[in-house]
Amino acid sequence: MRFFVPTDIYIENDCVKNHAKNLLAVGKCALVMTGRHSAAANGSLKDVTAVLAAGKVSFLVFNEVEENPSTDTLRKAASIARKFKVDFVIGIGGGSAIDAAKAVALLLSNPDVDADDLHKVPGHPLEHLPVVAVPTTCGTGSEATLVAIITNHKINLKKSIPHVIFPTLALVDGKYLASAKKQLIVNTAVDALAHMVESILNVKSNAFNRMFPEYGLKLWGECKDALLADSDVEASLYEKLMLTSTIAGMSIAHTSTTLPHGMSYDLTLHANVPHGPAVGYFLAAYTEVCAKFVPQDVDKILELLGLKTLDEFTAMIQKLIGTYTVTREMRDNFAAAMKVNRSKLDLAPGPITAEDVDYIYEKSLIVG
Ligand SMILES: [Fe+2]
Repeated sequence: MRFFVPTDIYIENDCVKNHAKNLLAVGKCALVMTGRHSAAANGSLKDVTAVLAAGKVSFLVFNEVEENPSTDTLRKAASIARKFKVDFVIGIGGGSAIDAAKAVALLLSNPDVDADDLHKVPGHPLEHLPVVAVPTTCGTGSEATLVAIITNHKINLKKSIPHVIFPTLALVDGKYLASAKKQLIVNTAVDALAHMVESILNVKSNAFNRMFPEYGLKLWGECKDALLADSDVEASLYEKLMLTSTIAGMSIAHTSTTLPHGMSYDLTLHANVPHGPAVGYFLAAYTEVCAKFVPQDVDKILELLGLKTLDEFTAMIQKLIGTYTVTREMRDNFAAAMKVNRSKLDLAPGPITAEDVDYIYEKSLIVG
């Protein structure tokens, strides 16, 4: 049994400002990667660049990271950063910005590797520049994981790249949720919920890994009424939601995610469904199937969330993210691909059959 998360993680109000020294110690020239708008709107970009400027660390802002970062975007960012001679990469945003920062940090240390080749298993471990993660949504957990989920549109693939890239430093501040729309908070919180559930309902689950989801699910359960309510989430819960998300990241740092995440990638790639709901649609049916193998674990998950039955779990997720309709052809194609996706099937806590996969798709997606 092993537990290893080498990231220096701080979670508190005014985290970036309070840990300016830690940030400045990472390097002398930074590439700052963000999406188009949110990092500017929620104040995180200003916080980071103010610290860098005051500490005389030069920086270049690349604000073109799209949802589900593509290999083309990574190549462009790396090409610009190479001319600027950056020695570390800062990802500010949700999973897309942080995952993109990880992948670009890898490309910058390996100029012979093209972004389109990142999904191929390397013949040797690849070095990467140090990465700093500043999450601004409460779902990714990427600040505490080794993985980066990257999309290669040329081969219709959305998948984690097989390289170990833990951030050197993560600065987590709940105040960045203040400008987020309620549904974004809900969607990303559902992603965090899935990380914890999939970490427990996982063949790699062990005592070390369970510490995190078992505490995180309790915290998530304490937030669930606010997430389900029609009103905005009160500011007093922001830090708890961020903490839960980081703990959920630690949960999957060693187990990885399993079927719901594997199933979500096709839905995002082919139907443009945001990551949180795309995962969430499959979560209840996967949990139900796993109850055949590990009923005590399913009971524990429900208890920690403050729920009594799987039906309550299903209803809660539906209230949060609704339902999704696909064509029969899409659903059949997705199911056919998942039936041979051994990297996810083999992580389930029992032998998932082809019938189980069909059942999960039937329960999770409406055909219309
Ligand atoms: Fe996720």
